[in-house]
Amino acid sequence: MKILFYDAKSYDYDSFQSKLSGFPEISVEYIRSDLDPRTAALAEGFDAVCAFVSSDAGAATLDILHEKGVGLLLMRCAGFNNVDLEKAAEYDIRVMCVPGYSPEAVAEHAMALALACNRRLHKAYNKVRENDFSLSGLMGFNFYRKTAGIIGTGRIGAAMCRICHGFGMRVTAYDVYQNEGLKDIVTYVSLDELLQGSDLISLHCPLTDDTYHLIQRDTIQKMKDGVILVNTSRGALVKTEDLIEGIRLHKFAGVGLDVYEEEAPNVFEDRSDEILEHSTTARLLSFPNVMITSHQGFFTREALEAIAITTLQNAEDHRMGRASANDVKLP
Ligand code: NAI
Repeated sequence: MKILFYDAKSYDYDSFQSKLSGFPEISVEYIRSDLDPRTAALAEGFDAVCAFVSSDAGAATLDILHEKGVGLLLMRCAGFNNVDLEKAAEYDIRVMCVPGYSPEAVAEHAMALALACNRRLHKAYNKVRENDFSLSGLMGFNFYRKTAGIIGTGRIGAAMCRICHGFGMRVTAYDVYQNEGLKDIVTYVSLDELLQGSDLISLHCPLTDDTYHLIQRDTIQKMKDGVILVNTSRGALVKTEDLIEGIRLHKFAGVGLDVYEEEAPNVFEDRSDEILEHSTTARLLSFPNVMITSHQGFFTREALEAIAITTLQNAEDHRMGRASANDVKLP
């Protein structure tokens, strides 16, 4: 089986190549370009393509993949909101993903963002480097005995609940389904109760029609003043313009974002030469209590290893005609 691996970075190459010897029937060719309608034709002669959160696997791309005879779309990530599943089903293109490669990797990053923006670590780091040892502008608050509000208690949200519990926080959560495994440490509440009662709100639900712009003016107004908001899930869960308005109105003690609306489709690019004066990300970064990272929640050694093994196993299952729990189906 031949796989064309789109948007390959050196760390992808290293992690996949190190696992490939366990899959002798599979070969992988790596290219730097990401998957989109302009690059889909490169998949001619391949059985499968491997794509990521940054890829465009919409209808136009799938039209071309189908025409080129590709029967398998291997998403090397948990989310698949960038895949047109109806089109894939129409063309019988199998879509597989890596649902839970390392929930702790993302949850630990969510807590790192929460702590960093609460205690202004990004600011403190720069101050001390400039020989400024004053504490002005650095005051935070204790998480101990405060209330965490976790939206979405699947794999990553559950890991975040456990971390917050470990910090001595009261942990509340909102989800459309309750996670039985958390009942000893989590109190499920309505979304409104969570918004009104939480000192730290962390988003861990997927991006769907129901969750698009879940955090916007109305929901922000319901939050406590001085709340910390963290989003490591998907950018469009938060309406950026309304977030900026909330920050200006001093609603937030801190905002930590690993994902943001503007990141697609250029996620993971080095844009250090660009002047981003019109970007909403640049506007967000102008606030001292905002900390932004570049969709790196998943980026740990353990997670990359797990992604490589599961993606190659998905390919092997397809090759052998086996069903898999990692099949992405139409809802
Ligand atoms: P999961 O599928 O295990 O959990 C998602 C949870 O959200 C489920 O419990 C589900 O019932 C809940 N949910 C669905 N609709 C909801 C709604 N309308 N309101 C409240 N809850 C709702 O997914 P997992 O593995 O925990 O991943 C969560 C998200 O994290 C992914 O969808 C992805 O967008 C993001 N992610 C981010 C990464 C990063 O590097 N920053 C890496 C991996 C995932």
